[in-house]
Amino acid sequence: MTCLLCACASSNGAEEEHVLIVYFSRTGEQAGVGTIETGNTAIVAQDIAALTGGDIFELVPEEDNYPLTYDALYEYACQEKEAQARPAYKGNVPDLSAYTTVCIGAPVWHADWPMILYTFFEANKEGLAGKRLVPFCTHAGSRLSGLDSKLAKACPDCRVTEGLAILGEDAQNNPEAVQEAVAKWLKKLGLLQNRSQ
Ligand SMILES: Cc1cc2nc3c(=O)[nH]c(=O)nc-3n(C[C@H](O)[C@H](O)[C@H](O)COP(=O)(O)O)c2cc1C
Repeated sequence: MTCLLCACASSNGAEEEHVLIVYFSRTGEQAGVGTIETGNTAIVAQDIAALTGGDIFELVPEEDNYPLTYDALYEYACQEKEAQARPAYKGNVPDLSAYTTVCIGAPVWHADWPMILYTFFEANKEGLAGKRLVPFCTHAGSRLSGLDSKLAKACPDCRVTEGLAILGEDAQNNPEAVQEAVAKWLKKLGLLQNRSQ
């Protein structure tokens, strides 16, 4: 098997990239994995940060009313989507002018981005303009679910590239395979930097 993790940064131009990873992720009871302490998307976000040398910003809800049981969370998110809610997140996104590429990740919720991502897209429209946006998600079977086209629609002044979809169960239970999939995808995008990972 080719060692994708050994690719040299100087051969793919990744050293010219300044990557920010913005993500949202939940712990508690999740589909197919029981009760988890590190969110599925958080695991993938951390892989991306390690492999690109990028900075990371988690969208943490300002008021965290999200239930910790799966059925209740499923229903809560459904209502949030129906209401087209824009939940606030804590803190400020780092200065986007410092980055060439922003990787944006979340769990698929009802075949869409969780509403807090739309809060982020709308609040940072100007800062994101002209950047390369790289979507990634974890899911329980529906893969990317059109998150890439939804991102392009929400951020029309950006360039949206190929996204990555990782099964939530794999994020929890097959970390090495997931890291390899992440590395392969980053290499294709010219973002793989840390060969020692
Ligand atoms: C509210 C809600 C809606 C979901 N909708 C979908 C869906 O439409 N398609 C899918 O494949 N998985 C769906 N899932 C499963 C999650 O995308 C999956 O478990 C994900 O890995 C959770 O990631 P996290 O731990 O980062 O929050 C849903 C889960 C929740 C809680």
